[in-house]
Amino acid sequence: MTTNDQPILSVRNLKTFFYQDEGVVQAVDGASFDIYAGRTLGIVGESGCGKSVTARSILRIVERPGIIVEGEILLRRDMGGGRIQEIDLAQEDDDSRLMREIRGGEIALIFQEPMTSLSPHYTVGNQIIEAIRLHKGLTAKQARLEAIELLNMVGIPKPDRRIDEYSFQLSGGLRQRVMIALALASDPRILIADEPTTALDVTTQAQILDLMRQLQEERGLAIILITHDMGVIAEMADDVAVMYLGQVAEKGPVDQIFHDPKHPYTRSLLRSIPSIFAPPRTKLATISGSIPHPYARPKGCPFHPRCTEFMAGVCDRHQPQLHAVVAEQTVSCFLYNEPEVAAPTLEPQR
Ligand SMILES: Nc1ncnc2c1ncn2[C@@H]1O[C@H](COP(=O)(O)OP(=O)(O)O)[C@@H](O)[C@H]1O
Ligand code: SF4
Ligand SMILES: [Mg+2]
Repeated sequence: MTTNDQPILSVRNLKTFFYQDEGVVQAVDGASFDIYAGRTLGIVGESGCGKSVTARSILRIVERPGIIVEGEILLRRDMGGGRIQEIDLAQEDDDSRLMREIRGGEIALIFQEPMTSLSPHYTVGNQIIEAIRLHKGLTAKQARLEAIELLNMVGIPKPDRRIDEYSFQLSGGLRQRVMIALALASDPRILIADEPTTALDVTTQAQILDLMRQLQEERGLAIILITHDMGVIAEMADDVAVMYLGQVAEKGPVDQIFHDPKHPYTRSLLRSIPSIFAPPRTKLATISGSIPHPYARPKGCPFHPRCTEFMAGVCDRHQPQLHAVVAEQTVSCFLYNEPEVAAPTLEPQR
């Protein structure tokens, strides 16, 4: 399988805000990253950092009163003969014909709770067959065979019988597999998996992650894997984007981020994963403080109230930007670059 040099999806300076009577929630506040065929980008951060809203923005399924206020979501399609078509999904209407085609077509979503994407009123087979027919125009009989094949591929035992069952008859692990089969029915190029294994026990979690890896190898899928779990990132991701309050604090190749994290937030997240080398019952480090209330967004660097490296007068006044610190590792922090705007003068100059 080849990895193309050109990203198939580029998110640039994406801002998605919720305008509520009580205030504005800047859920995604200038996030940028690239997705490549055959690679997995892990998006990691604590709960409330804007990971799900980022995913929903890409698919244009952000609930009201949320809107994309700025930025680009560039989807690239290979038109053959070296021609690449670039579409900015941020410019589309949520419900445009193109967006409906892309959702569940080129870009598929799986998430934590399969029960909300699987209907209790139809058998799992009916739902997968429907999706296959919609995207491939096969006859009911052909689509049923293909659905059984898909269920087999995602590791459902006795797929020719399971196909006629309802989702509530299946275990959590099997339901998650069915949701993956449903996502694959349209032959997507990009799979967004939002905390796909968070609700599962450790063994089932490992099986589902294995399955995703195998499907990626077979189909060259680009995967965006959203998780709050650095352990899952270490297992699965090629590249990582660490999000904090709607912004990318740091991103780069997974090995580099794990071996030489630069951003203080990344460092704290890594300190909070259990080490196999730690003596039993070692207390895990936690990140001091908590995520601020959505309406009380800190000025300057959003992480400054919790940061051990905080520099008064700099971090609370200026907003750091992502800069390359070493090859392909970009960091948004004043430890690595100066504020671009000169700090306000506090004392009269002589
Ligand atoms: N429908 C909504 N209305 C208002 N605020 C929302 C809505 N959905 C998410 N948010 C807010 O956006 C921020 C990011 O949420 P989310 O993307 O779900 O975080 P994560 O997935 O990283 O846990 C949070 O402050 C959350 O409260
Ligand atoms: S910019 Fe300042 S407050 Fe923000 S992470 Fe870097 S050192 Fe900490
Ligand atoms: Mg989420």
